[in-house]
Amino acid sequence: MDLNTIERNDPDSASQSAAAASAPAKKVFVKTYGCQMNVYDSQRMTDALAADGYTATDVIADADLVLLNTCHIREKAAEKVYSELGRIRDMKAERAAVGREMLIGVAGCVAQAEGAEIIRRSPAVDLVIGPQTYHRLPDVLARVRGGEKIVETEYAIEDKFEHLPQPKRAEMIKRGVTAFLTVQEGCDKFCTFCVVPYTRGSEVSRPVAQIVAEAERLADAGVREVTLLGQNVNAWHGKGEDSMEWGLGRLLFRLAEIPGLARLRYTTSHPRDMNDELIAAHRDLPALMPYLHLPVQSGSDRILKAMNRRHTAKDYLALLERIRAARGDIALSGDFIVGFPGETDADFEATMDLVGQVNYASAFSFKYSPRPGTPGADMPDHVPEAVKDERLQRLQALLLKQQQDFGLGLVGSTIDTLIEKPGRQAGQKVGRSPWLQPVIVDEKAGEIGDIIRVRITKTGYNSLFAELA
Ligand code: SAH
Ligand code: SF4
Ligand code: F3S
Repeated sequence: MDLNTIERNDPDSASQSAAAASAPAKKVFVKTYGCQMNVYDSQRMTDALAADGYTATDVIADADLVLLNTCHIREKAAEKVYSELGRIRDMKAERAAVGREMLIGVAGCVAQAEGAEIIRRSPAVDLVIGPQTYHRLPDVLARVRGGEKIVETEYAIEDKFEHLPQPKRAEMIKRGVTAFLTVQEGCDKFCTFCVVPYTRGSEVSRPVAQIVAEAERLADAGVREVTLLGQNVNAWHGKGEDSMEWGLGRLLFRLAEIPGLARLRYTTSHPRDMNDELIAAHRDLPALMPYLHLPVQSGSDRILKAMNRRHTAKDYLALLERIRAARGDIALSGDFIVGFPGETDADFEATMDLVGQVNYASAFSFKYSPRPGTPGADMPDHVPEAVKDERLQRLQALLLKQQQDFGLGLVGSTIDTLIEKPGRQAGQKVGRSPWLQPVIVDEKAGEIGDIIRVRITKTGYNSLFAELA
């Protein structure tokens, strides 16, 4: 999962419901932090709110409801929410001065982790809602409008996905030709640094029929590429249409049968859940893109053990060998943590070593951030900040070099590109390579949604330039 903390507004998610057609529409502003799962959840919350008469806005001052979909993964990510809440509180006061309401809601992983504490620290907040209860959002809002402050962070017993409304087809079309689809949520792995098992709860897989139906609706709305999401997406399992137990590999084969869906991806996977069936899908399923995000966190067995990753560096490298034997052109991506408690210079060198051996096409790397309630926070020998800084710099320099070399290695070759959107500059369109790089082409090269053959002419910082082959 691309879990570096990204902030996104959700301007694409405007939607108008029949209910809202008569009354003046209320407006919601959604701001998304954290991983792709939050991006998906923000869309689904927007859909639930559309059914409740809200249209989306990207102008916060116009919003009757501001929703922050938050991330708790590192301290910085969590603290950002409070500084944002400070600013929003002032806007709420300005609107109140002219007799207009602005409700403030906090959703996502900070909501789940901190609950009522959020309202204590930021009394302007009206509702706090955890990731397992988004289907209750319209009910919760009704109570909030009645003057209550609500904290809703129970893990619901019912399947939230079953109760969350699907977007209208027109709305889906507006969202573009690539889409996320959550198939699995939660985590039972309990890595000692990580809050996710506490904020998202234990592993739950969505049923096959639900996933297939959602993918079919996406394809019907013109989506060409679907990325299946899960905190441990390759732990997904479920009873298939043949009553057999399916794993993610089998599910990918099924989704590839849906007309129109040309490309499939999945993220994030755990090395321990990469099974033979999934590796075979990389070999036999052309729709499955040759790109795999497989975090390893550290190259030191001592640190991997302390992190409770339950595999060694050698296990990871052997696994990559099997995957590369199945799909020669697969590009690897990873996540790394530097400065986990007890990490010595030698441990860090083992990480640099592993990176040198793997050759990543892209990667995310972070300084260890102690999280309240996780075992790592209470471990001895925390690494000084200056040492973490220096290690991170060295690691990132190596990873950046590998990423650039990967791009350079593609110059002159001919590849498929899915055209996604207009470019930032006039006369251009932006596509996506099989390895997730943005590909800049002439706007006449094809229409949005087309998959075209292009020749790579040069690389940009993070993108490729190409001409029609
Ligand atoms: N499920 C995925 C990762 C989920 S969290 C996996 O098991 O690999 C995404 C990334 O954030 C992690 O891979 C890790 O690199 C980073 N991360 C998680 N907790 C962190 C912490 N306490 N400090 C720094 N980075 C952290
Ligand atoms: Fe966090 Fe580990 Fe679960 Fe990934 S596998 S979400 S890092 S506990
Ligand atoms: Fe952040 Fe929660 Fe995703 S902690 S990374 S938003 S699962």
